Amino acid sequence: MMKRNARSASSARPTTALIVFGAAVLTIVALVHVVVGGQQPMIIGDKATDGNAAGSANERHEGARLFRKGTFGGNGRTCETCHSRSTGTLSPADVLKLLLENPSDPLLLHDALDDGVSGTSPIAEHATIRIVRPLPPNIRIAEDPSATIVVLLRGIPTTVNTPALDPALMYDLRARTLADQALGAIHDHAQNAVEPTEEQLAPIADFQRTDKRFFSSDVLQDFARGGRAPGHSR
Ligand code: HEC
Repeated sequence: MMKRNARSASSARPTTALIVFGAAVLTIVALVHVVVGGQQPMIIGDKATDGNAAGSANERHEGARLFRKGTFGGNGRTCETCHSRSTGTLSPADVLKLLLENPSDPLLLHDALDDGVSGTSPIAEHATIRIVRPLPPNIRIAEDPSATIVVLLRGIPTTVNTPALDPALMYDLRARTLADQALGAIHDHAQNAVEPTEEQLAPIADFQRTDKRFFSSDVLQDFARGGRAPGHSR
């Protein structure tokens, strides 16, 4: 139920991309849905195997520390730069506040800037981040037929409920495990100089699967631990 809602909401997400790329992106979005629809349901393996085992207290502590403070020698961003403690995301109002109060905040660089180098209009107006994706080989952009990548302006999805409960992550469902997702985020957003190890990615994933801040209610947190489904008596 929750998952269905989360996914149907995702169909409305790439609005900005549509404005930027028009029909080409419509085609890509349609293709993604077709491809995903034709596959077996993707399972987040790490959730299935150790949903009940939350790891040791030390690991949980390390996961929280890395999520909040881990920069991996990069541009100063951590997961919490974009996935705030209170909402799991940043609203345009949150971004405006930062722009006024701390324009040198690490959020306001790299893929938050208009062309990746300067300008803060899209992030100030829509709180979007530039996401660069390879184009599938059978897709071309009409205005730029030789392009092999597409730049999409995407809002920051909240990390409330989805890390533990969604079987696949990201607007295009490309991340199948939380560890892979975290690795991609560290590469793409943090511009890391130090490569995270599996022993660091696993606690980041665990933290998002178990900590209260990643759930909108106790019932959903309990469900993620293997408890009763919301709305079911047993
Ligand atoms: C610069 C801002 C930024 C930073 C820093 C960042 N993220 Fe994200 N995060 C995003 C955006 C934007 C997306 C959606 C991208 C997409 O779908 O292509 C996203 C997607 C996600 C998702 C998927 C949510 C869903 O509902 O599908 C998770 C989980 C997540 N991030 C966790 C992390 C973790 C863990 C870190 C740190 C290792 C991190 N993020 C760092 C901006 C950020």
